Amino acid sequence: MNTNRLSKKIEDILNSQVTKEAEAAQVYLSYGCWADSKGYSGIANYFFRHCKEERNHMMKVIQYIMGRGGEVKITDTKGPSKNPNSLQDCFEKTFKHEVENTTAIYEIVNLAHDEKDWATYNFAQWFVQEQIEEEKLIMDLLDKLKIAGGDKASDESLFNLDEYLGQAPDHAPLPREASMDKPE
Ligand code: FEO
Repeated sequence: MNTNRLSKKIEDILNSQVTKEAEAAQVYLSYGCWADSKGYSGIANYFFRHCKEERNHMMKVIQYIMGRGGEVKITDTKGPSKNPNSLQDCFEKTFKHEVENTTAIYEIVNLAHDEKDWATYNFAQWFVQEQIEEEKLIMDLLDKLKIAGGDKASDESLFNLDEYLGQAPDHAPLPREASMDKPE
């Protein structure tokens, strides 16, 4: 008896997402190492924490595939792209990676919708929300760097930014949680 509740296409796209989340973890890991090599230990810490988040995302998809009776296929991952050439470049590349991941999540949502696979559609909604948060976190990094002076930031403002990011929250507040009493 076939107990696999995933179509072949859904199983394939979810397995591809497992690889994407693993690759995202490698991007954060490599940027963390790069930041540390430049003396930004706070920013490195921030990226290392997010590396772990991406591994957790990968595990969620693996658990979902297994829980639906599907087959998980662990494949090779692409190595991270070359090192950024500045903090601005680092944060911009990170944002681009997150937007690409959002597009991949939307493809899962679209396929689940087309196939009327409401279980996968429902599962993917967690990731839709998570991507809002992840994109917001990186937008905030870019905003903070801009305030610090961007590529022309002084050593002192970069020192302060590094200190701040070493302890920055790992989660961004979501609009749906906002109220007039608690705007953010
Ligand atoms: Fe797992 Fe940053 O998306």
